[in-house]
Amino acid sequence: MISKTDILYSLILLSFSLNTVHVHSKDSDSYVISCGSSSGGTDSDGRKWASDSQFLTSSDKSNMATAQYQDPSLPSQVPYMSARIFNSASSYKFSVSPKQRLLVRLHFYPTSYNSLDPSNSYFDVVANGFTLLHNFSASITAQALTQAYIMREFSLIPPQSGYLNITFIPSSQHDKSYAFVNGIEVISMPADMFKPAHLIGFQDQTVEVQSSSLQTMFRLNVGGQFIPTTNDSGLSRTWYDDSPYLFGAAFGVTSEAGKNVSIKYPPEMPGYIAPLNVYSTARSMGPDPKINQNYNLTWVFSVDANFTYVVRFHFCELQLTKINQRVFDIFLNNRTAQKSADAIAWAGSIGVPLYKDYATVVNDRDGDEEIWVALHPSVSEKPEYYDSILNGLEIFKLNDTRGNLAGPNPEPSKMLQEAEAAAASNFSPPPESKSKGEVIGIAGGAAGGAAVVAAVCFVVYIKKKRKNGMESGMGAWLPLYGNSHTSTISGKSNTGSSHLSSLAAGLCRHFSLSEIKHGTKNFDESQVIGVGGFGKVYKGIIDGGTQVAIKRSNPSSEQGVNEFQTEIEMLSKLRHKHLVSLIGFCEEDGEMVLVYDYMANGTLREHLYKSNQPPLSWKQRLEICIGAARGLHYLHTGARYTIIHRDVKTTNILLDENWVAKVSDFGLSKTGPNISQNQTHVSTVVKGSFGYLDPEYFRRQQLTEKSDVYSFGVVLFEVLCARPALNATLPKEQVSLADWAIHCRKKGILGEIIDPHLKAGPPINPECLKKFSETAEKCLADHGLERPSMGDVLWNLEFALQLHENPDGEAVVAQDKANDAYAIHNSTLTVEEESTASEATVEDLNTSAVFSQIVNPRGR
Ligand SMILES: *[C@@H]1O[C@H](CO)[C@@H](O)[C@H](O)[C@H]1NC(C)=O
Ligand SMILES: *[C@@H]1O[C@H](CO)[C@@H](O)[C@H](O)[C@H]1NC(C)=O
Ligand SMILES: *[C@@H]1O[C@H](CO)[C@@H](O)[C@H](O)[C@H]1NC(C)=O
Ligand SMILES: *[C@@H]1O[C@H](CO)[C@@H](O)[C@H](O)[C@H]1NC(C)=O
Ligand SMILES: *[C@@H]1O[C@H](CO)[C@@H](O)[C@H](O)[C@H]1NC(C)=O
Ligand SMILES: *[C@@H]1O[C@H](CO)[C@@H](O)[C@H](O)[C@H]1NC(C)=O
Ligand SMILES: *[C@@H]1O[C@H](CO)[C@@H](O)[C@H](O)[C@H]1NC(C)=O
Ligand SMILES: *[C@@H]1O[C@H](CO)[C@@H](O)[C@H](O)[C@H]1NC(C)=O
Repeated sequence: MISKTDILYSLILLSFSLNTVHVHSKDSDSYVISCGSSSGGTDSDGRKWASDSQFLTSSDKSNMATAQYQDPSLPSQVPYMSARIFNSASSYKFSVSPKQRLLVRLHFYPTSYNSLDPSNSYFDVVANGFTLLHNFSASITAQALTQAYIMREFSLIPPQSGYLNITFIPSSQHDKSYAFVNGIEVISMPADMFKPAHLIGFQDQTVEVQSSSLQTMFRLNVGGQFIPTTNDSGLSRTWYDDSPYLFGAAFGVTSEAGKNVSIKYPPEMPGYIAPLNVYSTARSMGPDPKINQNYNLTWVFSVDANFTYVVRFHFCELQLTKINQRVFDIFLNNRTAQKSADAIAWAGSIGVPLYKDYATVVNDRDGDEEIWVALHPSVSEKPEYYDSILNGLEIFKLNDTRGNLAGPNPEPSKMLQEAEAAAASNFSPPPESKSKGEVIGIAGGAAGGAAVVAAVCFVVYIKKKRKNGMESGMGAWLPLYGNSHTSTISGKSNTGSSHLSSLAAGLCRHFSLSEIKHGTKNFDESQVIGVGGFGKVYKGIIDGGTQVAIKRSNPSSEQGVNEFQTEIEMLSKLRHKHLVSLIGFCEEDGEMVLVYDYMANGTLREHLYKSNQPPLSWKQRLEICIGAARGLHYLHTGARYTIIHRDVKTTNILLDENWVAKVSDFGLSKTGPNISQNQTHVSTVVKGSFGYLDPEYFRRQQLTEKSDVYSFGVVLFEVLCARPALNATLPKEQVSLADWAIHCRKKGILGEIIDPHLKAGPPINPECLKKFSETAEKCLADHGLERPSMGDVLWNLEFALQLHENPDGEAVVAQDKANDAYAIHNSTLTVEEESTASEATVEDLNTSAVFSQIVNPRGR
């Protein structure tokens, strides 16, 4: 059986029975230490972490501390819950082999220790003369990646002294600054791990990789799945899925070694280079030679500028057996790294692993801080198949001439984009056909350390122009705060906006650009409260005192225009207590701006995890779910057209100051199928967010309102368990919340994964919990037909709330009553009072280009 995780995980249906082979490198000096812990401990993978005290040098004046808050996404208490705090420069010293390279991993969990503010912490880390981190803020970096914790991995040149000296130096340029670290791993690594690499773009020039220290930026098991530390020989590396980094909609196909192909290292290749699991899966271009000739299989990585990088390609042919069957060219940043690559010609036979290193310098030109890896069939070689293949990929940063490896902290704007991207975990191929745009996957981030970064998986968003980095296209506004005061949107004059139907323009208030500029202090960065694919979101003031949220699109982004239109068209016609209200818009001077109610309490997600907000009570959670369900139910049935939201997730459920839930972000919405014409779905390119994506929608690219129901089921479990829909750092079976929660429910151990805050709070009525989780599970049924309608979900949640508030007695009666009511008034359940006025004006939709997609109006 193929589980949903895997569909999400690899984008391609994979069946797996990976050969697991343990490769043992000589395990000489290896230190795994939990800092600030007097006794050490064992992590969730069963690795033992020792106390750090004996490795501190004698002059040390550091403190031990325990985290005050345990983020639910931490993989394990050890080593993250204890920390060593340094108020002045201080060193660890390890005795190591002078002949081996050193793999050094640093673990950071930026949170409050001894009431210290994590945002005050800036520091340098120097190891054997190499600057590993400089002016490093774990807090900014973690926020940028929306990760609770960060891991950085380095490979240092063999220390002639026989010692490794790691020094933590608090920044002198920031007040109250301190340094901290939670865990350190030091593992000896064979010195022959690296050899000179060809510097591309220069004839016969090589880079002496072996004499440089490196930072691991990315480490991917291409076409395969996450490989945890425990499955990677003595080096305990982590290998991530490559799909988040794929560029464009052309993902190629993944393959796996069949039973008749056995994979064996050739004699000259040591097993520690990469585990066999990496070689046993691959990504190639697909069966159609015509298509393959017309595209490059491309991955894109965010890196720091002004460094030399080594890109290591791992190959192993899994299907073909002869030379000149699959021959391809390899490009790095648009330059040819290798012509006529042929894994069989190199390795001699099927199932034989090999790797190739290429070095490239990434400069600051054009502001591009990216590495593009592209493969294309070598048509000129006339191979039997026009195809290419890749099994694994690693990218390492080399120290510069001053021995520095540190890049800057993520910039605020970039940071917010990445945060948004990470949080939203959005996925979207270019919008139907007309796109000149490019899709770029960014999961790393300039400062993003390799592995952990990749855990922020499945981030793909549309980037129209590389050079000015204008992203557009995706929904999701990370905290798009909006809120409460719902003004009537009676139209001022229609200003003849070029992009809008006159209807929508007439329904909405029109703002002048000067009003908007005035309200946002001329789009001052200090006013930014979120960033989405469409642009930034500012907090602003209009009419001399009304707080609003202002979305500003990237000028000249065509995809932005589309979503701008969709959102105005949708929102201007929909009025509902549980939908975010659009107050108006501004279209002037190429600017496109949307003005919304300000939502004082931000997104639902930030009240569940990865923030320092106080936890919500169970009752609050139920009420929020009910509110959101009402909003969605209204979208599905209350308006004249069935509207499918397409991007239901906890960051698109906003909370006003009274904790009323409002569904936001209609940038991706589509109107639903026309029932009268026996159409039951809208055929469309898959959009939405990983972890929430309906597997049926994914498989068949057909959209129904049941796709929203599926996503809402994930939201319900997220509310119950307070963890992200996808967390790639967890063991495979736990990565997808949907799969894991269903598994736990089946096993009767759902209680174990419930948010600890809920368990600590007032007891939850078991019947209520049962109803809630049963409802969530039904939403996640594999087939849309088996899932309840949103109205059904709503009713069940209301029933769960009754069970909670009134555990014995009346609930049962209510259930029967409600069931009756439901049977009769199915489609109008609980919507009436709340949908107000302007829905009636939804006529004439065909005037809008946006609605050209309407499959047909459905009367009520
Ligand atoms: C460790 O390195 C720091 C900074 O480079 C230096 O000040 C210190 O003396 C070194 N300690 C040892 C024991 O080598
Ligand atoms: C890791 O190793 C274990 C034990 O050998 C195996 O059961 C599991 O499938 C492996 N996981 C991966 C992702 O390779
Ligand atoms: C392995 O088996 C598959 C089908 O079972 C076949 O298509 C493939 O050619 C075989 N490969 C080799 C190298 O024998
Ligand atoms: C890279 O180097 C150039 C030229 O020395 C400099 O202008 C630029 O600021 C540097 N970029 C970064 C990110 O350090
Ligand atoms: C890639 O190279 C081609 C010529 O080989 C050039 O026309 C194109 O502009 C380059 N693209 C980028 C993004 O640098
Ligand atoms: C593939 O990439 C290379 C290098 O960037 C470029 O020259 C070529 O035009 C690309 N081919 C296609 C089909 O996009
Ligand atoms: C890295 O540092 C080493 C030692 O300081 C130096 O020999 C080497 O040239 C540096 N690497 C690069 C790429 O500058
Ligand atoms: C340190 O990092 C912060 C945040 O990125 C930045 O604002 C500051 O300018 C940096 N300081 C130095 C001295 O580089």
